Amino acid sequence: MTRSRWSWSTWIRQCHRWLSIAFTAGFLVNIVAISTGQDPAFWVYLLVLIPLFLLLPSGLYLFVLPYAARRRGGRGAA
Ligand code: HEM
Repeated sequence: MTRSRWSWSTWIRQCHRWLSIAFTAGFLVNIVAISTGQDPAFWVYLLVLIPLFLLLPSGLYLFVLPYAARRRGGRGAA
């Protein structure tokens, strides 16, 4: 059966992928900010917390995908 090129799972995987880059960049900014010895501003922490909080649900969705596909009678991860 043919499937449309666009699907929720591909979209969420792409989001997860790019969020991981945002998270990594925010993480590096935090390391630099903390290494100055002063307490960083609150928004500096948000640079890691916001991507991480979005990575968590999208990552859990990706985790469940193959099991959900199997339950629906598919052959698991394609
Ligand atoms: C916060 C909790 C997280 C959970 C539960 C999670 C879970 C997952 C799962 C289940 C997959 C799919 C694996 C597969 O079957 O192919 C995945 C892919 C991936 N994760 Fe996460 N992840 C999390 C956080 C992160 C973080 C912090 C990073 C990196 C900074 C990251 C980077 C990636 C990348 C690059 C992929 C591959 C995406 C692709 O296929 O293009 N994830 N993650």
